[in-house]
Amino acid sequence: MSGEITNFAVSKNQPFFIPIQTHDMINVYPLRSLLLFTLSIAIAALTGSCTHEPHYRIGVSQCSADDWRDKMNEEIRREAMFHDNIEIEIRSGDDDNAKQIADLEYFVNEGFDLIIAAPNEADALTPTIKRIYESGLPIIVFDRNVNGEYYTAYQGADNVEIGHQAALLARAMLGDECRVIEICGLEGSSPATDRQRGFDSAAEELGIKVLGRGNGYWNYEEGSRVSDSLLSLYPEANLIYAHNDRMAIAGAMRARAAHRQVKTIGIDAAPTIGIQAVADSIIDATFLYPTGGHELVRTAIAILEGKPYKKVSILPTPATVDATNAEMLLLQDQALREETSKISGLKQSLDSYCEKHSLQTAFLYSALIIIVLCAGLLFVVLRAYWARKRHHQEVEAQNIELAKQRDQLDTLYKQLQDATRSKLTFFTNVSHDLRTPLTLVAEPVHQLATATNLTEQQSTLMQLADKNVKRLQRLINQILDLRKYEDSKLGLSLKNVDLSEALREWSAAFEAAARASATCISL
Ligand code: FRU
Repeated sequence: MSGEITNFAVSKNQPFFIPIQTHDMINVYPLRSLLLFTLSIAIAALTGSCTHEPHYRIGVSQCSADDWRDKMNEEIRREAMFHDNIEIEIRSGDDDNAKQIADLEYFVNEGFDLIIAAPNEADALTPTIKRIYESGLPIIVFDRNVNGEYYTAYQGADNVEIGHQAALLARAMLGDECRVIEICGLEGSSPATDRQRGFDSAAEELGIKVLGRGNGYWNYEEGSRVSDSLLSLYPEANLIYAHNDRMAIAGAMRARAAHRQVKTIGIDAAPTIGIQAVADSIIDATFLYPTGGHELVRTAIAILEGKPYKKVSILPTPATVDATNAEMLLLQDQALREETSKISGLKQSLDSYCEKHSLQTAFLYSALIIIVLCAGLLFVVLRAYWARKRHHQEVEAQNIELAKQRDQLDTLYKQLQDATRSKLTFFTNVSHDLRTPLTLVAEPVHQLATATNLTEQQSTLMQLADKNVKRLQRLINQILDLRKYEDSKLGLSLKNVDLSEALREWSAAFEAAARASATCISL
């Protein structure tokens, strides 16, 4: 397999005085837009402070949990500390295919953006990984492989080469007299197959005898069990080649218990178990099986960000750890741990500063929102106050104008009253002036009308003149009564009248005039 740059990733009414109306003066629309404006500021404040977009979630599915994977998980988390836009969740299948399939389904169902998986057993995990890969969800396979290229990227070490190196070391340790019992990793997991294949082919070339092998399932207990059987089966064996350190330690312990002089070679060299076992002279040597946690995260980010990445990355051929360098490697690991803890301390302070900064930014934006809201509210209230004041002023001006008009009307009314009174006084005075001579005329006319020495015609004419003089006197009295009426001094006086007599008198009054005009017409 060669590492080529082949893929780019999948990378979302009118009364006299006008009343002042206030109910519709406050317009609600500016308030609503103000509210919308402040709401958008709030959203911007909450989403914009100290966030890093886009944000990716990466699911790491380990096939098991052990010292080597702990080291790798540490590397993954350490690398993730340098990338604020990723969130990592690591799950372990605990050497159980069904559990690991469930973990992978979980990452898919939870909408993770990328999956990194070390398949427990190739045959069991290939269908699930193939389905995920074909669905377009990026998946990086590492350490152990699947049956086919069903991955966005693969990263792992050359396990055939590790087997080969182990054989070379065995030969170097024991020369021509190298008789090996092999404790294998889980059958069906690709590193076990490759480590066996690499060792076998080199053993043949180097004249190493592989007496027998057994499945240690990558763990201490099974390693012990299979070691016991192989050690008793092959008393001539002088070297245990185990596919990992836990099984190597198990083999070495069983050999000691059986008082057997055997050399032990393991693989992994995770500091807490493998290197320590070499430093403690429990096993003789181990191979640094590269973890590549940092590289995995970088590849994942490149895929997610659509940047170029290697489809297949083979990690460098491992170095041997033996009594000569184990102590130094432990010290280096210790130093690395201290640096890592310092970095993680710094990261925590940075995160807490960022959190404080976010809080302060949110507080600042909240204060700004409150100020904008208060200013807006003040503006709306002032606007309503000004509108009300203006309305008041207008109404007052209208009231002053109406009062002026009312005063003018009052003046006109008084002038009219004065003119009417003057006219009445004039008529009263004229009537008084008319009544005196009329009274003087009335008496002689009455005497003539009642005289007995007149002809019938003269008597009739004089009686007519007498009636009309009286009538004139009545009319003048009525005019004078009008003045009393105006001064409210006139009372109502009712009397009985002989209507036929009255009609006769009224018609007789016109008789002479009628006769005179009839004579004119006949002439
Ligand atoms: C850890 C482990 C290692 C071994 C690797 C091979 O789960 O068993 O000890 O080197 O897996 O995949």
